[in-house]
Amino acid sequence: MTANKPELYRDLSRQLSALLAGETDLIANAANTAALIYHSLPDLNWAGFYFRNGAELVLGPFQGRPACVRIPIGSGVCGTAAARAATVLVRDVHDFPGHIACDPASRSELVVPLIEAGDVLGVLDLDSPLLARFDEIDREGCERLAALFVEHHRRFQG
Ligand code: SME
Repeated sequence: MTANKPELYRDLSRQLSALLAGETDLIANAANTAALIYHSLPDLNWAGFYFRNGAELVLGPFQGRPACVRIPIGSGVCGTAAARAATVLVRDVHDFPGHIACDPASRSELVVPLIEAGDVLGVLDLDSPLLARFDEIDREGCERLAALFVEHHRRFQG
């Protein structure tokens, strides 16, 4: 897959659009999105969502080992991405102060905020057991997937 990662993400975007089409349920769509990502991208040990509830992120649908349920905004990689409303790419989690180790096997992490009209609704979190698993292509690709997810749900809200 590393031969053509941009193409892989283009395929994944098309698959995600097809998977979400016609379904409005947020939990069902988040569950299928996590499953699609987890089984399409190599070398992941966790892929899923946290959704914002006040000053916390709360665990949503995911694939991987059981994870910490509540993360204060501003804590860990997920809480930092939510606080900054910006993607955080960590090549070595041991070098990220405050990293929350849900699975000690995780070595690198990519967290993309879900942003709708300036509000952070939550984050999409990807973990890998490999050091420096994620690069700028992964960042762009996952930002696109997160944007598709948010855009899909925006259409069904009041
Ligand atoms: N490592 C994350 C916590 C979530 S788990 O990786 C699933 C963090 O530091 O925010």
